[in-house]
Amino acid sequence: MASYGVVENMFVQELARNGQDPPLPYIAREDDRPTNVSSPASPIPAVDLELLFSSDGDSQTSEMYKLRSALHSWGLFQAIGHGIPSSLIDDVGKIAREFFHLPTEEKRKYSKAVWREGNETDEIAIEGQVIEWCDHLYLQVLPEDERDLSCWPENPSSLREILNEYTKKIKVVIEVTLKAMAKLLDLEEDYFIKQIGDKATTFARFNYYPRCSRPDLVLGIKSHSDGSRITILLPDQMVDGLEVLKDGQWVNVHAIPYALIINVGDQMEIMSNGIFKSPVHRVVTNSEKERISLVMFLVVDGEKEIGPADGLIDEDKGQPRLYKKLKVKEYLEVFYRNSLQGKRSIDWAKV
Ligand code: OGA
Ligand code: NI
Repeated sequence: MASYGVVENMFVQELARNGQDPPLPYIAREDDRPTNVSSPASPIPAVDLELLFSSDGDSQTSEMYKLRSALHSWGLFQAIGHGIPSSLIDDVGKIAREFFHLPTEEKRKYSKAVWREGNETDEIAIEGQVIEWCDHLYLQVLPEDERDLSCWPENPSSLREILNEYTKKIKVVIEVTLKAMAKLLDLEEDYFIKQIGDKATTFARFNYYPRCSRPDLVLGIKSHSDGSRITILLPDQMVDGLEVLKDGQWVNVHAIPYALIINVGDQMEIMSNGIFKSPVHRVVTNSEKERISLVMFLVVDGEKEIGPADGLIDEDKGQPRLYKKLKVKEYLEVFYRNSLQGKRSIDWAKV
């Protein structure tokens, strides 16, 4: 459609600044539009990561129990006791905001320098695709020797250092979470860690959702689940926007200050043979305040295989294999193709 050219290569932020109503390609299909969210029957579960490995047996058991139930029924939880200082979290928010507030020309320098890496607004890949009200800065942060620093902004000047510090902390959070997940499944504690090996590829995506004059018509991020193994989100400290689909209802994810939101990705749903659920979620915008988040996606080398852990399959005990064994890259190929059309891929991975 010709009108798409108008918004191509244009940052959503600029549209927002001009106070323009969202152009047609941003308007969500009627049945996808933001709805009144329901208050959850129970709050989004909070889990203290420190207690998961506490020497006090009772607190440890009860925290593990909370985690299990969160991963099974919600597919996500708020992580507290994660060991990341609040000052670092504030700094991350600050550099993100500073970056997105830079003049467009400055940001354009980092525009798509590498495949999917860099600073971008949604791509228009297929006709009729609805575009999201969000600009991104997408960077590979791990392994360290695979970073392409040419994509890492030098402005604000502390961005690289702060992102590096934050990544180190997130690496620990990922390890702790993966260990706890393995224990919950009665697998060897290092089961998931060994699989990612020293190629714990992690991508950081800064999301910037400008204010929108018609939040009722657009989505910051359309309904999706993550193709990652697990995802660690640092939400905006002031502004909500993330919603998760729980029992058929969209529920607002309101985080405790300085908590992280950790969610199961499709790859972990597959490896846990469906015991952990990869949640469907989306982001809504609002007319008053912009919102910023930083998402870290743990993925792995595409040549590695994923499939339910052997220890979880026992036909005799009524635990049949629910998902195929596949290469990570096979899954991700299907995942990206389907995501463009707003479709999930997890069913395709089922046996
Ligand atoms: C994502 C995502 C949520 C948010 O980037 O995949 O779900 O709150 N982000 O920005
Ligand atoms: Ni997501």
